[in-house]
Amino acid sequence: MSQHWRLEYTNDYAMLTLDVAGQSANVLSQEVLNEFDRHLGEIETKPLKGLIIRSGKASGFIAGADVREFVTITDPLRATELASLGQQVFAHLAGLSFPSVAVIHGFCLGGGLELALACTYRLAYEDAVTRLGLPEVRLGIHPGFAGTLRLPPLVGDLSALDMMLTGRTVSVREARRLGLVDEIVPERHWRHAAEAILNRHSPRRKAAWYRRVPGWKPLRPLIVRLFTPRVRRKARPDHYPAPWRILELWRDRATAEQEARSLGELLVSRSSRNLVHVFLLGEELKRAGRAQAHNIEHVHVVGAGVMGADIAIWVAHKGFRVSLQDREPEILARAMKKAHGFFKSKLKEPRAVQEAMDRLMPDLDGHGLKRADLVIEAIVEKLAPKRELFRMLERQVRPQALLASNTSSIPLEEIGQALQDPGRLVGLHFFNPVAKMQLVEIVRGANTSAEAMARARAFTGAIERLPLDVKSSPGFLVNRILMPYLIEAVRLVEEGVSIATIDEAATEFGMPMGPIELADTVGLDICLSVAEELSGPLHIEVPENLRELVSQGHLGRKTGRGFYQFDSRGRRETPAPTKTAADIPITERLILRLLNEAMACLREGIVADADAVDAGMVYGTGFAPFLGGPMHYVESLGATGISHSLYRLSQEYGSRFTPDPGWSQPELLRRRPIDKV
Ligand code: NAI
Repeated sequence: MSQHWRLEYTNDYAMLTLDVAGQSANVLSQEVLNEFDRHLGEIETKPLKGLIIRSGKASGFIAGADVREFVTITDPLRATELASLGQQVFAHLAGLSFPSVAVIHGFCLGGGLELALACTYRLAYEDAVTRLGLPEVRLGIHPGFAGTLRLPPLVGDLSALDMMLTGRTVSVREARRLGLVDEIVPERHWRHAAEAILNRHSPRRKAAWYRRVPGWKPLRPLIVRLFTPRVRRKARPDHYPAPWRILELWRDRATAEQEARSLGELLVSRSSRNLVHVFLLGEELKRAGRAQAHNIEHVHVVGAGVMGADIAIWVAHKGFRVSLQDREPEILARAMKKAHGFFKSKLKEPRAVQEAMDRLMPDLDGHGLKRADLVIEAIVEKLAPKRELFRMLERQVRPQALLASNTSSIPLEEIGQALQDPGRLVGLHFFNPVAKMQLVEIVRGANTSAEAMARARAFTGAIERLPLDVKSSPGFLVNRILMPYLIEAVRLVEEGVSIATIDEAATEFGMPMGPIELADTVGLDICLSVAEELSGPLHIEVPENLRELVSQGHLGRKTGRGFYQFDSRGRRETPAPTKTAADIPITERLILRLLNEAMACLREGIVADADAVDAGMVYGTGFAPFLGGPMHYVESLGATGISHSLYRLSQEYGSRFTPDPGWSQPELLRRRPIDKV
């Protein structure tokens, strides 16, 4: 009995179609692999001309191994066994006495691509959605079904290392250029093309000799040395061991057995477990973004400054019709110029660039309002102008239009007072830069309707961002948690600790960027205004040196000077770390303030649960993904220990370190069972 695979025979060919039961995308669980192996056992006994492997899912070929299965494995030997099982099944496929071909459409990732690599040939549909790649490194592991062995000879060593180390996916065209796929075919011809390639009996593809040169034994250590600085910039070996293992496996020409053993060790490592946690949190947010229809086609954005322009450009890039309004024609012109540059760099083809530009209309007089299904306000961060704008908007928009504000600190209820129907107002809080930051906080005011929340979530999903529900309260989730950490960093500067030392402490901990550089990047004026906004409700004292820098016009990267100096290309100088009194617990002070605020948010119900705090901080700020997010980190340290450390710091440094009452409520940290994720 076959649950996941369908086997058919026609014209001397066998065809295996994968359609994993109960899932919208194909994933390779142990059960799916076992069933595949049984079919191969039957097929190999027949006199056939070839085997065609394809997917029965609209979503794509195979999205990879079953990540949910990873979570259940705690023993490295068991993980090694599973990898060996996959290797044996794929070796079975590669060893058939007749050729095989994978017909690829949509996602062909991880274990899915490794299956395709074990086939004699690969065909891919000619379309814009098909993506191929080995993204394992992003989960803290590497390919384990002999992918590290099969990829280099096919595409060349440098391309293979690049794909495995970055985990990036490639389009069909790039895959063809690399030699990863043999042919690109229009969807309607796949069957004919598959039979033709099986009939042709051309030898299995190999990368041109010069692409295999870097794999020569004497050259390999040199290549590893070339890749090392690049890898080090992205991944410290103690935080992210996987890319380093990939380099080692390649350098040592590891066997399949060694690959499986290494995978087993990595899969149960802290880094990988936490990265998998983070991945599943992201999947959950994506699911929330798909749960409902948004009924939005035309989006009107008011305010074409830093945020408004970027939001409008991104939304148009994702296929929506957008009108962009500002009261200053020059600002609109600048936004359109920026849009052109962005589309050109992303889309490359002139026709696609033109189509994207056609979707984005500068709209000085606000004509687009009447046609809009969603209006996003991104004007100055002041209550009175925002209220006035919404009062005017409500009179002009269609009754079903959803109204949203990108405010980062003004309570939604206060803006909503201008409206007859405040239920239709929701916060869509994007982060800067919009094209990079995946998270959007969906802010629920006291009056926001459930329908408005659901549409906002669905729209966010449709523009490929991650929607996170937050309660309207000062700073929402992300800025609120970040601010005490940034302020503590600025206080350390005031105490005489060098900026480089502070930033280094944070990056050593695992932050993507130190707090001082982050403040300079966001803009010190913006930091100051958020800090002032939060100072009352959160009892934050705004450090004097921050005010001083802003009043002198030193706003950070954008003005060439903030805490750091920046050159004309925006690169920061690197001052040497100076000696600091050894007794200042820099990392502890920074991180504990962040964790204490995260706990306060959890206790106050700013978000649903500890997972939502983790998702917000990882996808909204890049909080050390290998630690799985702040609350996951808390769990690994123990809430009691953190509370004690906070108490100790409060004795020494003052009441800002007073432990939040949430630390003594263990139920706040309780996790949902994994099958709900
Ligand atoms: P900005 O000052 O760069 O842009 C505001 C734009 O709105 C200006 O171009 C101005 O001409 C225009 N404007 C003002 N009143 C208008 C009106 N009545 N009608 C039409 N256009 C009008 O400001 P920015 O930084 O883009 O911020 C906009 C909003 O986004 C604020 O609410 C801010 O809190 C929020 N935000 C800002 C972030 C940032 O990093 N800059 C991050 C997340 C949210």
